[in-house]
Formats: sequence, structure tokens, C-alpha cells
Amino acid sequence: MTSMTSEQRQQLIDAALAARQRAYAPYSKFLVGAAVLTGNEKIFSGCNVENASYGLTICAERAAVFQAVAAGERQLAAVAVATLKAASPCGACRQVLAEFAADIPVLLIDANQPTSVVELRLDQLLPHRFK
Ligand code: THU
Repeated sequence: MTSMTSEQRQQLIDAALAARQRAYAPYSKFLVGAAVLTGNEKIFSGCNVENASYGLTICAERAAVFQAVAAGERQLAAVAVATLKAASPCGACRQVLAEFAADIPVLLIDANQPTSVVELRLDQLLPHRFK
């Protein structure tokens, strides 16, 4: 896959927003949805899933990546993250994304303003990555 089409970009954004609606975050109340586009042009999504034992929480981005990998998709072409403040992936998620991605686009979506998307690159978020 060279670069995503505008239709794929919108599908990725929509998938992240839809996943955010399914977030399980009764403790932080901070809902996060993520979606990854794979090199085979498939989309997988994930949401944060919290736990009464707080440290067991899984972030939305990692949930999405693990869905992709479990389906046999090990190459990521783009990722989108939806929150209420266009938050960017935490450090742990950046490293997990980097395991399966080159310098891919990272789309940050404010769920209240889903048309104004902040677009960064993974290398900006994780320069000098460990590999
Ligand atoms: N969270 C994510 O899902 N992704 C991130 O990159 C950072 C944080 C979740 C974890 C927790 O459920 C909530 O956001 C507040 O930290």
C-alpha cells in the first residue's frame, strides 16, 4: 500500500470514533477509540478497557494493534485515535505501534470536532525508536 485514499482516511476516522463509543472507562471516564489501517487495506479498531485493578487497563491503541496482529496483519499503514481532546498515544502505545509500523500517519481526532483532524507522523511522536 502506498498511501491511503481519502475514503480510507475517513473510514479510519469513523472506526476510531465508533470504537470510542464502546470504551469501558468507568474509573477515568476518559473514553478512547483507536483504529489502524493495515498494509492489506483492512481496518481494525480498539477501545480502552479499564479494570478495578487500575494497572490492568489496556489502551485503545494497543487493543487495535493486537486485533490486527491476531488477524494476521503485521504491517500498519496509519492509525487514528479519537478522544475528547485529540489526545496523542501514550509512550507505551507509541512503542507498540512502532513494532509494526514505519513512519506512518497518526490522526488525532477530537470527538466533538471530528472534521478538524490533527495529523502527525509516528517518527515525530517516537523519534529514535528502540528496535
Ligand atoms: N488511554 C488510552 O486508551 N490510550 C492512550 O494512549 C492513553 C490513555 C486510556 C487509558 C485509560 O483508560 C484512560 O485513557 C485514562 O488514562
